[in-house]
Amino acid sequence: MASLISLALLALSPLSALCSSQPNSANGSDDMFWGTSSYYAHGLDKATRTVWLDGLQRDGARIVRIWINGISPGTYKGTNITVTISNLEETVGIFNDTVLDAIDDLFMEGHTRGIKFIVSIHDGNAFGQNACDAYCTEFGGFGPASGTPITLGNSFYTDPTAVAAFDNRIAHIMNYQSPNFGKPRAQLTEAIAAFDIENEPMIQAITQLDSVGPTWFYGRAKQVKKYIGSAPIAVSTGGAGGSGNIYQNWSWRPWLFTCPEIDWIALHGYDGDWTQWVPNATALAAQYDKKLFVEEW
Ligand SMILES: *[C@@H]1O[C@H](CO)[C@@H](O)[C@H](O)[C@H]1NC(C)=O
Ligand SMILES: *[C@@H]1O[C@H](CO)[C@@H](O)[C@H](O)[C@H]1NC(C)=O
Ligand SMILES: *[C@@H]1O[C@H](CO)[C@@H](O)[C@H](O)[C@H]1NC(C)=O
Ligand SMILES: *[C@@H]1O[C@H](CO)[C@@H](O)[C@H](O)[C@H]1NC(C)=O
Ligand SMILES: *[C@@H]1O[C@H](CO)[C@@H](O)[C@H](O)[C@H]1NC(C)=O
Repeated sequence: MASLISLALLALSPLSALCSSQPNSANGSDDMFWGTSSYYAHGLDKATRTVWLDGLQRDGARIVRIWINGISPGTYKGTNITVTISNLEETVGIFNDTVLDAIDDLFMEGHTRGIKFIVSIHDGNAFGQNACDAYCTEFGGFGPASGTPITLGNSFYTDPTAVAAFDNRIAHIMNYQSPNFGKPRAQLTEAIAAFDIENEPMIQAITQLDSVGPTWFYGRAKQVKKYIGSAPIAVSTGGAGGSGNIYQNWSWRPWLFTCPEIDWIALHGYDGDWTQWVPNATALAAQYDKKLFVEEW
């Protein structure tokens, strides 16, 4: 079986490129890439964004990872943001496409520079850790938690009403018609390399990871794939369980590799000696023909 192991690199970084691995021969594939993550890129003013994207292009970046989240004015990793962009859902099930429109403009600016995007459908830290959004309000948030692992539970991953609401969010995002490209987001191969099912799914419900995780991940991956069909856009895990303790292999639980609709396994980790476990994760990727990439470190 052909294996598609690649260690692609992304970093949750300030507005600078972090990593210096060589980009692949530019044949348009995502076999090998490096890039950066930004949860506020779509809120940057045009001038700042232009300088940032030009720098990434100059240095050979292929991918930028973003989150579909609203933005409030403030200073983010040293960069001032003045716009207000509402969340896609300020109330669960009621959509405000302003954030999708803002992201669409960013997509076009990336596209003209040969940069594609990984798009995170929701932030798993929005259940009281980084924020308490509409899903947190509706299905249980627990206030800021300190320390890791975060063992607080919530019903977002288990309550059928929550699961249906999230599938509805996925459907809305996938069907959203891109003003700049004139096609639904699920088919936007010019700009989108992959969808992260969520950013760090279950980080705030870590005790449910093995009991609820397989059902939740498989079902949501299937829901995303339903809209993508055969378009060359990957479904990615977003860093299962977050990055609390990489030795516990939350990001690369073996059951993630056996899900047919999951294409990429995203690794998140901020600690430890990676040589202790990267060979284990790459062995699983080879066995199940999945792409493995380092998304946050
Ligand atoms: C892109 O290049 C890599 C390595 O050079 C190769 O393995 C891969 O098959 C190529 N992909 C496509 C779509 O041509
Ligand atoms: C960001 O805003 C703060 C507070 O208004 C200001 O002191 C600072 O100089 C600004 N930084 C930049 C880079 O514009
Ligand atoms: C949608 O979001 C924008 C930007 O935050 C805001 O100006 C607008 O009032 C919102 N629309 C509705 C219907 O809430
Ligand atoms: C993953 O971690 C769990 C819990 O620590 C352990 O039981 C399991 O053997 C590990 N799996 C792999 C493939 O390393
Ligand atoms: C990696 O695999 C080796 C050999 O199977 C095992 O001894 C070790 O515990 C694994 N490490 C992790 C972090 O899962």
